[in-house]
Amino acid sequence: MALSLSARLPSCSSSVFEKAHKLTTQPPILPFPSNLAACGCTLLPASMGVARRRRQVVGAVEEQHNQTSVLAPKQSPSYSSSKLVLVIGASGGVGQLVVASLLSRNIKTRLLLRDPSKAISLFGLQDENTLEVREGDTRNQNDLDPTIFDGVTHIICCTGTTAFPSKRWDGDNTPERVDWEGIRNLVLALPPTLERLVLVSSIGVTKYNVLPWSIMNLFGVLKFKKMGEDFVRSSVVPFTIIRAGRLTDGPYTSYDLNTLLKATAGKRRAVILSQGDKLVGEVSRLVVAEACIQALDLECTKRKIYEINSVEI
Ligand SMILES: NC(=O)c1ccc[n+]([C@@H]2O[C@H](COP(=O)([O-])OP(=O)(O)OC[C@H]3O[C@@H](n4cnc5c(N)ncnc54)[C@H](OP(=O)(O)O)[C@@H]3O)[C@@H](O)[C@H]2O)c1
Repeated sequence: MALSLSARLPSCSSSVFEKAHKLTTQPPILPFPSNLAACGCTLLPASMGVARRRRQVVGAVEEQHNQTSVLAPKQSPSYSSSKLVLVIGASGGVGQLVVASLLSRNIKTRLLLRDPSKAISLFGLQDENTLEVREGDTRNQNDLDPTIFDGVTHIICCTGTTAFPSKRWDGDNTPERVDWEGIRNLVLALPPTLERLVLVSSIGVTKYNVLPWSIMNLFGVLKFKKMGEDFVRSSVVPFTIIRAGRLTDGPYTSYDLNTLLKATAGKRRAVILSQGDKLVGEVSRLVVAEACIQALDLECTKRKIYEINSVEI
């Protein structure tokens, strides 16, 4: 399925998304670009069988020597420091990795956190010109006042809660409130100058009433995520939606910035990108974080929805 997305992708700068585009005209195994890459990740077509995938990946890996971290690329020439990226859900598993990676790239970052004190424990004391922290809950429209978005050029939203009732639903922080109402509130508050909203969603949202997705959706998480997605799509916002498979690696809930920067995607370094909600599988949180950041700059990902998985190599 990954191949079919490429037909709709115009050429764009080097990234995992561009690699997907090239899959129609080139052999299917292409290295993830080293400056942006998740440890020498390889992009595979979703249509490739598991055994063939493994053979090809092993071949590709033999030529790539262990870079260790998806974060902190040593050279990142394509990233401009004129950005101000607002990260919502920055204290979560994917969000922490997004923030660590933005900081390592010297991209100015603002966090919207329900509990701002989490910023210090997660990211340490940072220069205010590099990392700003604001307090807010996406369920409350009043928390999304225009000052939150002042100067913001891009937003990465990775908010979420558990699919099934848990302590994290305390205070009515349910999927309906977070994945639907929170996203709706956010879209309604966005300034017209925003260059990109990247929203992390989930595979299976279009199939929430079909087994096995209906089990995951028993308390509505997929349905409400789809409603959030639909609201984004029906707006004029320049969005990219990244539907993640089941998340692996992390959450790094008790880690500090230095530890986050050393996080790796383990063996799960072969990336599968797809469209049409046909992908089933898992994805490293590091790979999702990396895809979110790459998508910010790529015109070809504007107003597009992707599913993403990663597999062991
Ligand atoms: N787990 C999976 O296998 C899976 C699969 C596919 C997709 N996803 C989705 O991928 C995304 C990232 O997942 P993750 O595991 O990294 O998430 P996570 O660890 O659960 O983090 C969720 C983040 O959202 C924030 N948040 C929750 N409610 C909020 C609210 N009302 N206002 C503002 N912020 C709020 C949390 O902040 P607090 O610190 O304040 O709680 C936290 O920073 C989520 O949308 C998740 O549903 C997950």
